[in-house]
Amino acid sequence: MKRFKKIAKWTGFILLFIIVALTALTATRQDLRFEAPYPNIKASTDSTVIAQGKHLVYSMAHCADCHSNQNTDSLAQLGIEPTLSGGRKFAFELGNFYSRNITADEETGIGKLTDAEIARTLYYGVNSKGQAMIDFMPFHNVSEEHMTAIISYLRTLKPVKNVVPENEYSTLGKVLKAFLVKPVGPKGTIPKTVTPDTTAAYGNYIVNNVANCAGCHTLRGPTGDYIGEPLAGGNAFVEPGLDTLTPPNLTPHPESRIYGWSKQNFIDRVRMGKLIKHSHMPWNSYKKMTDDELTAIYNYLQSVKPAKTSVEKK
Ligand code: HEC
Ligand code: HEC
Repeated sequence: MKRFKKIAKWTGFILLFIIVALTALTATRQDLRFEAPYPNIKASTDSTVIAQGKHLVYSMAHCADCHSNQNTDSLAQLGIEPTLSGGRKFAFELGNFYSRNITADEETGIGKLTDAEIARTLYYGVNSKGQAMIDFMPFHNVSEEHMTAIISYLRTLKPVKNVVPENEYSTLGKVLKAFLVKPVGPKGTIPKTVTPDTTAAYGNYIVNNVANCAGCHTLRGPTGDYIGEPLAGGNAFVEPGLDTLTPPNLTPHPESRIYGWSKQNFIDRVRMGKLIKHSHMPWNSYKKMTDDELTAIYNYLQSVKPAKTSVEKK
């Protein structure tokens, strides 16, 4: 008994020491800086390039769904583009995160950032201060042509003053930030340009490089890593007081939500937009994709490996 007490006491001391050390280390590692290359991207003033950027921002890349704090549902009905002045709150286990003001305002927006700094943020997950960002925006393999178009359009946004709160990391978030959060960058080489057509290849590019369908429709583990079959259904969105919504299976498997849907059914469904009010899917943006873009997505979804619906383990 005496011996046990002694062991317990020492274990207690050691544990306490580890906790104190970890807490101190976590605190000193809250402002880590990372290196990443500055991409050779220069905004253009060509009206065709700007129009292409506008289409990307408000449709498949769905920047407006995250970078606006306005009622994007009513604006979508009215056909008004939301202002990209940021401030939308994303609250989860790691803390509260706020999308930034990406209008041209010099103090509260991105007016002072260079094209290369903005491109570095989006390609390499390192913000203008050199801090790693949580991977909200997996645009790491967007083509250089599309990145140029997106930034060219952002440069035309009129400056809107809107101070966005700083991110608030939870204790868990702080520990992960100190030891685990690393900037996510491109896989392989960034394509210069990708031919826009109705093929599965272009659909693959939209789904995986721009629209990020897999981010919700593939099952992910606690740290965000992909653990389910690609596009075979994702993690449930559980919100108090609201029906839980689960991103369904989109593969060509009999269990898939879209099994048996014709190309026209798929296009018509996307065009209907948001039918469930609290759905997290950025329907308002996606419904603005062209028929050709939606056809490419449909062709790609038909070509992926059919898989049974992923089920989350609780
Ligand atoms: C899923 C939500 C989401 C989408 C979609 C999204 N963003 Fe973001 N964005 C965020 C969040 C959240 C932050 C803040 C991240 C942080 O501070 O760690 C952010 C930060 C940024 C920043 C950094 C600004 C700065 O002050 O350094 C830029 C630039 C940016 N986004 C541009 C875009 C563009 C352009 C698009 C569309 C092509 C886009 N975002 C789409 C959520 C999103
Ligand atoms: C931010 C998360 C998110 C993203 C990104 C997302 N989805 Fe979804 N999706 C959902 C959720 C949640 C549902 C279930 C609720 C609903 O139907 O709106 C859903 C439902 C669907 C449905 C079934 C609709 C129905 O009426 O049965 C289809 C089809 C679909 N998504 C396709 C896509 C495609 C294609 C993409 C990429 C272009 C995509 N989703 C991106 C979350 C997402």
